[in-house]
Amino acid sequence: MNTNTMRHLISITDLTTNDINAIFQRTDQILHDGFQPTLAHTVIATLFFEPSTRTRLSFETGILRSGGRVISVTDPAATSTTKGETLEDTVRVISSYVDAIVLRYPEAGAASRAAIVSTVPVINAGDGTGEHPTQSLYDLYTIRQALGRTDHFHIVCLGNLKYYRATRSLVRLLARYPNVTMTFVSAPELAMKTDILDELTQQGINYQVTTNLTSVLPTADVVYQTRMQKEWLSDTEYQRLKDQYIITPSVAAQMKPGAIIMHALPRVNEISPTVDSLPQAYYFKQAALGMPVRAALLQYWLQT
Ligand code: NCD
Repeated sequence: MNTNTMRHLISITDLTTNDINAIFQRTDQILHDGFQPTLAHTVIATLFFEPSTRTRLSFETGILRSGGRVISVTDPAATSTTKGETLEDTVRVISSYVDAIVLRYPEAGAASRAAIVSTVPVINAGDGTGEHPTQSLYDLYTIRQALGRTDHFHIVCLGNLKYYRATRSLVRLLARYPNVTMTFVSAPELAMKTDILDELTQQGINYQVTTNLTSVLPTADVVYQTRMQKEWLSDTEYQRLKDQYIITPSVAAQMKPGAIIMHALPRVNEISPTVDSLPQAYYFKQAALGMPVRAALLQYWLQT
């Protein structure tokens, strides 16, 4: 068991720029040379108390390809949570079995609660409307691959910015790179929350908030689309807001050459499938990068 690696990854701010550079170098190596069995003899728990396809399976594939092994919770109803056990008690016990815990939980702040009682590193794989740091890590890797840089670009975040943890973490991450300008396009009731906007203001980041997508498309290098999350919206809100910003080929045509469309997925109807074959469509490439980046993260996290 790694006792010298008790660092948790709860928020994107837990990663230093050195960490990120090292994880990206490792990812480059994996993509170039394939996987090394650097997680041999390691057992990692993936505890998913909220639905997931990509996040859990990309973590687990990355672990298996790195020679590690996995124990998993995929159905909270089948755990002692049903009997009334707290998250803290579950994590306290499971952390005595494994070398790291990857946790998804439907409440913001859950990953930091888990970290307080865990005896092994806790990696936040999404805590309610809080953060999703490993998503942002591979989002940045995707931007680096597509644009060839992680600075000097304009990102437009679109749609459901109030509840979408992936864009919350991404914005906090991008704020540390030079000359990243940000535009937040949404209905006023789904605007990026003031905790994040206040941080950007304090850091002197150049950002704007608007409802007008068309006006900002021609200067965007990245358009980051989001899902209207039924789970956080009332039925009437959902019906009213779900079709407000749909990316179609005619929207994509207003973007400049080389600009990309990203999305954490799953999508519902917010990007038309007719966009998928266009050069701007980057979301499936983005999703594919989740696996090697998460493998690199765990390799790095458990070995440094
Ligand atoms: C996102 C999530 O779970 O935060 N999905 C993902 O992890 N790729 C976005 C969503 O909920 O739609």
